[in-house]
Amino acid sequence: MSSSKDPCSSAASSRGNWGSKLGFILAAGGSAVGLGNLWKFPYLAYSNGGGAGDQQGAGGFVLIYLLAVLVLGLPIMIAEMMLGKRTQTTPIGAFESVRPHSLWKHVGTLCVITGFLLLSYYSVIAGWTVEYTVKSVTSEFSNYDQAVSEEMVREQLWHDFVYSSEGEAALIIELGQKPESLSKALTDPKLNTLKQVVTDQEWKRLQQNEEGQAKLSELKKTLYPQKLFSEFIAHPWKQVLWAFVFLAMTVGVVIGGVSKGIERWSKILMPALFVLLIVLLGRMLMLDGAGKALSFLFRPSFEMVTASTVLNAMGQAFFSLSLGMGVLITYGSYMKKEDNLVSSSYSVVIMDTLIALIASVIIFSAIFSYNLVMKDGGTGNLFTAMPVIFMKLPGGILLCAAFYILVIFAALTSAISMLEAVVATFVDEFKWSRKKAVYIISAVTFVLGIPAALSYNLMSNVTIMGKTWIDFADFLCSNWFMPIGGLMLSLFVGFVFTKKDQREELPEAHCKWFPFPLFRVLVRYIAPVLVVVVLLGMLFGAIQ
Ligand code: PHE
Repeated sequence: MSSSKDPCSSAASSRGNWGSKLGFILAAGGSAVGLGNLWKFPYLAYSNGGGAGDQQGAGGFVLIYLLAVLVLGLPIMIAEMMLGKRTQTTPIGAFESVRPHSLWKHVGTLCVITGFLLLSYYSVIAGWTVEYTVKSVTSEFSNYDQAVSEEMVREQLWHDFVYSSEGEAALIIELGQKPESLSKALTDPKLNTLKQVVTDQEWKRLQQNEEGQAKLSELKKTLYPQKLFSEFIAHPWKQVLWAFVFLAMTVGVVIGGVSKGIERWSKILMPALFVLLIVLLGRMLMLDGAGKALSFLFRPSFEMVTASTVLNAMGQAFFSLSLGMGVLITYGSYMKKEDNLVSSSYSVVIMDTLIALIASVIIFSAIFSYNLVMKDGGTGNLFTAMPVIFMKLPGGILLCAAFYILVIFAALTSAISMLEAVVATFVDEFKWSRKKAVYIISAVTFVLGIPAALSYNLMSNVTIMGKTWIDFADFLCSNWFMPIGGLMLSLFVGFVFTKKDQREELPEAHCKWFPFPLFRVLVRYIAPVLVVVVLLGMLFGAIQ
């Protein structure tokens, strides 16, 4: 099994090897680093941290996430790559080749189902980044002056007042006690008169002189992206169109085979994204809100931690590291025999986690520096908080375009890996040609993605378990299917593979930073038990 030329596979010709170790790390890293890091992690930190207003914080969520990455993510990643590397085939075939005619192959089936569903809604969010690139290139962000209404400005003025110390004192007088929560106070009808008086006064002040006018224009800049975003997601056909465009780009790369396309592009684009993020981070740390952002993210605060925080953190670890849906089985199958699973996994995990944290610091610095209120629970923060910064920086619009283009590429390298895992499975299992597999699978995915694209507009009232379709699909994939896939993978590699099999893939020389006995305990017992406990907790929580 030492070479990629598997005589049993009709896909042998399209099955390649990674050109170099770095190539593999960047491709696997490209799969891992995507919307999960730049959009979803900051959004989850926002919502699990209780929003950016009151005295809460996301420290608990971040800490649990880091633990999940180390204790579940790392061993399961090694296990998943190991299965692919050893069997040199795709999800279903990998299980089948080790345990023929057993039920294990249905873990592969689950991977394929997850792949379809995941890509279907991922393309919708990725489509947003395409729209935002267009918005920045066409200078749509400069129209803020006429677009922002007086009412929006008043809402923001009220928010700023409620969160100021002067406001707090006024609220206590008005309510006769300290408000239970400031975010609730924002919409408390008992405060309507106070709101009217305060916003009238502030609004007049802003009209008075040049200084006020300048302040008003700054305020509009912070409000405009929220308005743009809510208008954009209310457009059904735009959502469908951009999802289609993004999927077409993904098809364009996958159809040409992976190694050259993905590997070459990942080598250029991943470092470019990283450099741009570091530059932005440097700039953001100079803003007033940076300290608050750091403390919101990293102060160990457990007030907000509930069972669902733990579930979200675990789900996000699977999602962000691309685990439990067969991507790493497939990518692992293109590895060479001598490649080092431990160091590759470490590199991917570190890269992925760093980028999620950096992106969060950037986004939260913007949120706190400009007092932004995410009315959508944080869903849009990559699209509502980031343009605010760019609108205020000199030359920002250009930077804005560059930023969203890199986000598209990050999303693209992830989407490519999802499509590739499913395509390669159909090629291996059903002997389809690569072309046929790519076209049919992407067409099905596109159709599946339509309800996701309509979740923010035409279908916003259609809910399953209180969630819109897109949220439900994400919930199913991240919180159920991927953890279950990962659980099965770790049991398979832990118990069905012999110790000798495992040892061959993890020779002493590779295990300096991850001792073999530790791997065995994690992959056989600790990771599976933790996943089961969280899923059971969830199940019973959901039943109650
Ligand atoms: N890890 C990717 C991201 O963070 C998403 C992904 C999940 C990619 C599963 C492939 C497989 O965006």
